[in-house]
Amino acid sequence: MLNPDLYLDSAGTMARYERDWTGDHAGRAALVLRPRSTRDVSKMLSFCYERGIAVVPQGGHTGLVGAATPSATGQEVILSLERLNTIRSVDIANFTITVEAGCILQDVHEAAASVDRLFPLTLGAKGTCQIGGNIATNAGGLNVLRYGMMRDLVLGLEAVLPDGRVFNGLQALRKNNLGYDIKQLFVGSEGTLGVITAAVLKLFPMPRHTVTAFAALSTVDDALRFYVRARTELCDLLSAFELIPASGLELATSFRTDLRAPVGNAAAYHVLLEVQASGDLDLNTLTQNFLMKELENNGILDVAIATSARQSSEFWAIREAMVEAEPHYGQHLRTDVSVPISKLAEFIIETDALLEQHFHGAIRLPYGHIGDGNIHYNVLPPRSVGEGDLADYLHACEAMIFEVVDGLDGSISAEHGVGIAKQSAFMQRMSPVDLEIMAEFKSFFDSRAILSPGRILPKSN
Ligand code: FAD
Ligand code: LAC
Ligand code: ZN
Repeated sequence: MLNPDLYLDSAGTMARYERDWTGDHAGRAALVLRPRSTRDVSKMLSFCYERGIAVVPQGGHTGLVGAATPSATGQEVILSLERLNTIRSVDIANFTITVEAGCILQDVHEAAASVDRLFPLTLGAKGTCQIGGNIATNAGGLNVLRYGMMRDLVLGLEAVLPDGRVFNGLQALRKNNLGYDIKQLFVGSEGTLGVITAAVLKLFPMPRHTVTAFAALSTVDDALRFYVRARTELCDLLSAFELIPASGLELATSFRTDLRAPVGNAAAYHVLLEVQASGDLDLNTLTQNFLMKELENNGILDVAIATSARQSSEFWAIREAMVEAEPHYGQHLRTDVSVPISKLAEFIIETDALLEQHFHGAIRLPYGHIGDGNIHYNVLPPRSVGEGDLADYLHACEAMIFEVVDGLDGSISAEHGVGIAKQSAFMQRMSPVDLEIMAEFKSFFDSRAILSPGRILPKSN
């Protein structure tokens, strides 16, 4: 008999695990398991494996592709990691932190900061998403151009296999070439190969100086050229470089009426950039000189530099408000595509032209991580599109955007994963060899296909 403390089974208590952050995906859980330890996870999984019960691991449920939401059948058990939330240890000299999978990302930031270290992965959902979810999705976010994606930040990993065996790869080594790097298989596996229970993460020196700036530009080409110069001229200290189109600024400031555009809000594009350094360096002068030179040479139209930490947070609040405002608009298209950075302007210009021609009246919202070649080209449909036509309309928009991505050798999922939402587009693009390798991995780890069935690969595989 399972200890009643370790599960929830009433409709009222399970409701919050059945709907994701956006409200885009919802389902029905058979049960919600809430283990307290790796041992609990192991016992629960081996029980389910023997009986062929489907299990879906769940972190903060902020994922954007529907992978952690139970299906509508009511047959899947949710395994929530929220109680595995201990920071196990911090090694200051090794620049590492060992955490359990259910730790909230922001709590890991704070634990690192308390010993003067930085854990650099950060994203809008940082107050809710969990490290296990970040690893299972190979999350990206705002600082990838400098520190890499989650994959680059994981040194060690502990995971429970579907049959209950524990993979213990919790080494805190920067160099370790003993055979295949098994832990990396779990990174980005979206809960399909094992349940991540703990990880050793890389830390970095805590920046002592931060300069945040908000620049206005006329074209996306200008934004790209500005990025290349910033990356080079700012001594490789650039940590974020985010594109905000005029439509995004408008959306953010009408959603949060207390926020103001820091510079001329008539510009077609804005870039929010951040430069950071540890140690003793005059970062203000370096950044100011660079930005003044950009203004003189007409590289940018205008720029505001935050004069306090508070002002810097206000700049970032615009970026966050734009994303928070989207669900309030109603049903719309979210994408998460990448192309080589050098082709990013071409991608946006070509997509703009096609959408203007075929979907006139839609609000186009191409924003995101210029430095990673990763744009969320989102589309808010005109109010004139009837509810019955909305799904087809958004699907056709998406197909058009993906076609441009394909033409530029890009990816239709840069950082959010495949889950369920991107599955058919993913299947259309994978070669038979890709699919065979993935299916072999899946069946090697999970021959009974109990873990997150139908996520990434369709159920029949
Ligand atoms: P969940 O949503 O709970 O789960 C996501 C996937 O991971 C599912 O497949 C689930 O089964 C699996 N999973 C969760 N925990 C485990 C575990 N312990 N073991 C095995 N599998 C597990 N993403 C980005 O990459 N970059 C961004 O900039 C970004 N910004 C966002 C901003 C907002 C406002 C929101 C709502 C989301 C954003 N996201 C972003 C998406 C999301 O936050 C990330 O995908 C995040 O990594 C998901 O973490 P989670 O704990 O919420 O995972
Ligand atoms: C962002 C998320 C949606 O960059 O990935 O805001
Ligand atoms: Zn993003």
